[in-house]
Amino acid sequence: MIEIRINGEVRQIDVDPATPLLWVLRENLGLTGTKYGCGIAQCGACTVHLNGAAIRSCITPVSAVLGADVTTIEGVGLNGERHPVQQAWIEEQVPQCGYCQSGQVMSAVALLAANPSPDDAAIDAAMSGNLCRCGMYGRIRRAIKRVSQPVAEPISEPAAVSIYEPSIAGLKEVKHV
Ligand code: FES
Ligand code: FES
Repeated sequence: MIEIRINGEVRQIDVDPATPLLWVLRENLGLTGTKYGCGIAQCGACTVHLNGAAIRSCITPVSAVLGADVTTIEGVGLNGERHPVQQAWIEEQVPQCGYCQSGQVMSAVALLAANPSPDDAAIDAAMSGNLCRCGMYGRIRRAIKRVSQPVAEPISEPAAVSIYEPSIAGLKEVKHV
């Protein structure tokens, strides 16, 4: 018997430790939100979090997650509410056929947790392993930007101000900063 922690709950399962985590999620635990796409870490459909980092559950043996926190799309919301990324997905109407979507959301959530203000290059790098046959890449990027925190503007130095003060010799220039 193996014990794993999924979405904050400890679950016991009777499987071979070499079984891919994806099979355990879908077949043993009924968490079918995580999808099987390629089975060889090429499409991202099976993405879940291991201690907050995005991993491909199709190539991760269940023995590799013992003692760790696994989060799936079913557990990514906060206190029963949609995660802000899920809300942004709805607002940007990202899902089309929907097959890739749970993996996309899980990768986006992991990206924003690590980098709350990703630029286009950071978004592309983090999301490049998640394929979308419906080609929703533009909407995915827009949805991520909806949740991104604005980058703080650098505080600019006040410009020096010249004023003239009277002196014995006449007016003298004084710079005030
Ligand atoms: S099913 Fe895991 S990356 Fe495609
Ligand atoms: S929404 Fe169809 S594959 Fe991405």
